[in-house]
Amino acid sequence: MTSVLQARAVWKTYQREDAPDVEALRGVDLEVAAGEFVAVTGPSGCGKSTLLTVLSGLDMPTSGSVVIAGRDVTSSSEQELAELRNKEIGFVFQSFHLVSSMTALENVAFPAELAGEQEAISRAERLLDQVGLSDRAHSFPHQLSGGEKQRVALCRALINQAKLIFADEPTGNLDSHNGDQVLELLIALQKEQGSSLVLVSHSSDVVARADRVVRMKDGKVVAD
Ligand SMILES: Nc1ncnc2c1ncn2[C@@H]1O[C@H](COP(=O)(O)OP(=O)(O)OP(=O)(O)O)[C@@H](O)[C@H]1O
Ligand SMILES: [Mg+2]
Repeated sequence: MTSVLQARAVWKTYQREDAPDVEALRGVDLEVAAGEFVAVTGPSGCGKSTLLTVLSGLDMPTSGSVVIAGRDVTSSSEQELAELRNKEIGFVFQSFHLVSSMTALENVAFPAELAGEQEAISRAERLLDQVGLSDRAHSFPHQLSGGEKQRVALCRALINQAKLIFADEPTGNLDSHNGDQVLELLIALQKEQGSSLVLVSHSSDVVARADRVVRMKDGKVVAD
């Protein structure tokens, strides 16, 4: 098995002023294989979002190691990390996180432009076409519906052909029809690119589609 992500003995403690520390992750081990679709599930507050931010190099673990595409994030510089995140990792958030001053096309093309890709715009146009949004390419986020915004966010996550895609409840703000459509597109694009997908979801339909289900409780993986 070729793995694209290895997390070993990962702990994450949040320190708070005037309140006890929160041990959000308490010794998580996780390995993700190339092309695999892993669903992460568990009760509210069990550490799922924290796990995604740590596995994706957005935040550092308090202890333990996270190796993404062969690189240990805990011993990488800020610049190496930024590059790693842009090239190897795609994100989809529950609340879209699009840049409000950029059109749909610009939002999608942006990570490819950052990576110095000459064909950024034509690649972005192709992706928007694949998710049925050719005619919305020049719309701004506030002119788009929730489902449309999330389809734009999918294209942005995929444009650099990231090895690893993280999605934190990507259908949580959508009605069931739009949610299903976004999920189908995400899975189809992930399979087409051969990327791995780590997706947090409470939906049993989503979980049923995954190659593997990781269940968390109180900051630990309790079933895998
Ligand atoms: N920045 C922070 N500072 C302090 N505590 C935090 C911080 N972020 C999260 N926590 C705490 O860490 C724990 C795990 O939070 P996390 O957001 O990872 O849970 P979750 O499983 O994603 O929950 P949900 O399903 O509600 O999204 C919770 O107890 C939360 O209150
Ligand atoms: Mg969460």
